[in-house]
Amino acid sequence: MYNLLKGKRGIITGALDQNSIAWKVAEKAHEEGATFVLTNAPVAMRMGEINALAEKTNAQIVPADATNVDDLTNLFIQSQEILGGKIDFVLHSIGMSVNIRKKIPYTESNYDYFLKGIDVSALSFHKMLAIAKKLDAINEGGSVVALSYMAAQRTYPFYTDMADIKAMLESIARSFGYYYGLEKKVRINTVSQSPTKTTAGSGIKGFGDFYDYADAIAPLGNADAASCADYCITLFSDLTRMVTMQNLFHDGGYSSTGVSDVVMQKMGIEEK
Ligand code: NAI
Repeated sequence: MYNLLKGKRGIITGALDQNSIAWKVAEKAHEEGATFVLTNAPVAMRMGEINALAEKTNAQIVPADATNVDDLTNLFIQSQEILGGKIDFVLHSIGMSVNIRKKIPYTESNYDYFLKGIDVSALSFHKMLAIAKKLDAINEGGSVVALSYMAAQRTYPFYTDMADIKAMLESIARSFGYYYGLEKKVRINTVSQSPTKTTAGSGIKGFGDFYDYADAIAPLGNADAASCADYCITLFSDLTRMVTMQNLFHDGGYSSTGVSDVVMQKMGIEEK
């Protein structure tokens, strides 16, 4: 513990269960001295697991469907009331593709599902930022982080429409980061995380095999949810106050590795 977030107020979306990346971020933010509000879609809360996290981290819960502007407005207003001031950090940890859930191949994407995926997983980020800016709800130097995946840059067939949606998410971080940075010095970044065994991750067909492949490529191995949370905490802290509009890879070196010896050996490719 370094007290990196001492006195800071936050909003953390997307903690569904103990495996969720957002769950780990909430635990670490609490350890680092932050106070925050937890939020998730009302339907996700019926599972009730978030209550245990709220208790453990002394957090209150404000339900909000991230596609709903009224819900998000209420989230920012209520969070400031609950926490007693403007917000210093926000985690966007929300992703869902109906096309993936229904195992529809990319080239045959259903467009209603595609639009739903965009709304939930990318446009929700724009909506949050626009509402926060309109309400002037984030302190100067505040930090907003959304979670992304490398399929935004390179093709991974199993990721189907989410690849395009993550590309949009990363673009929103850049575009909004410009305006919010100029006006209020608010930083906006995306963290491009290794495959991680969570509800969203495991819902992807072929994910288990791919998880092992990525682990065998990355010199440090796959980054887990807890280390992703550590990285997010550094981005919320004042130590990264000049970092904005970036897509930051948090993947054990995977994105810079062409091939590893381990994978070459598994392919049966011997040195001549
Ligand atoms: P998760 O399933 O634990 O979290 C996804 C969250 O999105 C859930 O809490 C869910 O309730 C929430 N959500 C869905 N629809 C919503 C809505 N309309 N309004 C509000 N919340 C809604 O899974 P995970 O893996 O922790 O996902 C968090 C983020 O990390 C997502 O953006 C995901 O794409 C990203 N990510 C995950 C990776 C993985 O391999 N698990 C790799 C790279 C990025």
